[in-house]
Amino acid sequence: VSISQDNARVSASLPTGESVEVLLHGATVISWKSANGKENLFLSSKAHLDGSKAVRGGVPLVFPVFGPPPASHPTSGLPQHGFARTSKWEYLGKSSSESSKLPNSSGDASIKLDFGLSNDMLESLPSEWKKYAFGITYSITLSREELETSLAIRNTGDTTWDFQTLFHTYLAVDDISKTSVHGLEETSYTDKVGGAKATSASKAPITITGEVDRVYSPALSQKITVSENKKAKFEITRDELGDVVVWNPWEGKAGTMADFGPSDGWKKMICVETGAVSKWNNLEAGDTWEGGQRIKLC
Ligand code: BG6
Repeated sequence: VSISQDNARVSASLPTGESVEVLLHGATVISWKSANGKENLFLSSKAHLDGSKAVRGGVPLVFPVFGPPPASHPTSGLPQHGFARTSKWEYLGKSSSESSKLPNSSGDASIKLDFGLSNDMLESLPSEWKKYAFGITYSITLSREELETSLAIRNTGDTTWDFQTLFHTYLAVDDISKTSVHGLEETSYTDKVGGAKATSASKAPITITGEVDRVYSPALSQKITVSENKKAKFEITRDELGDVVVWNPWEGKAGTMADFGPSDGWKKMICVETGAVSKWNNLEAGDTWEGGQRIKLC
């Protein structure tokens, strides 16, 4: 297992060739490569990687609010999707398991990178979030053909607060017109394109033929599969994350985003975002919430 780090990013690779790269800015995973060097995440060619803006691509972290914050709520003064994706996180270190020689083990190494964010690391916290105390440990585990991201969110203060969180994963696909998402056939959703419309389960796999922005809640299947040419490509499983958002901006919306590139980049990505966003998750003083997702290459 090899690791390199500077004051902006941490990179790790396995003896089998897989690698992951994480920016301290937002603790954003910006690259996850297979052993053959193939990139599994979409990263906009115009993404800001210097900390000036949330990263357009990779795995931005949503916390403590998903989407635009509601009015008259402790998150009201926060930016869309909260502050985790625009804050500078601390690298806490790694733990790795080297290849085992045991006859029944798969013999594969894995590496876990931990990152931390707490209220005392933030220079300015807008509005009411100033009075809340929190500590987050974000663990990113790379193993053979798998990337796992998990969060432990702690209330370190003496007041209860509410949060939403989500992994805003931009998966790389070769051709969006041949991409389908399976596992949400039986789940009703909120369609955010053109206003938030409650929509009943489609009973069919999702294909993308225009702008898609849907919050499936509660997602009934534990496993979501992203296929290309009807062949499974990514398999996503989740823990404590009841909701799944599927997003592709299509040509029109991508064209309005200054940091989205290249101009046909929307054909090469699909966001399948696992989270706890359809309601507020209440965290009492002293309590910890844990949740995560695992993305497996098929
Ligand atoms: C998705 C939302 O999660 O994120 C969309 O459902 C939103 O409505 C998209 O457009 C991108 O958000 P942002 O803030 O990164 O441009």
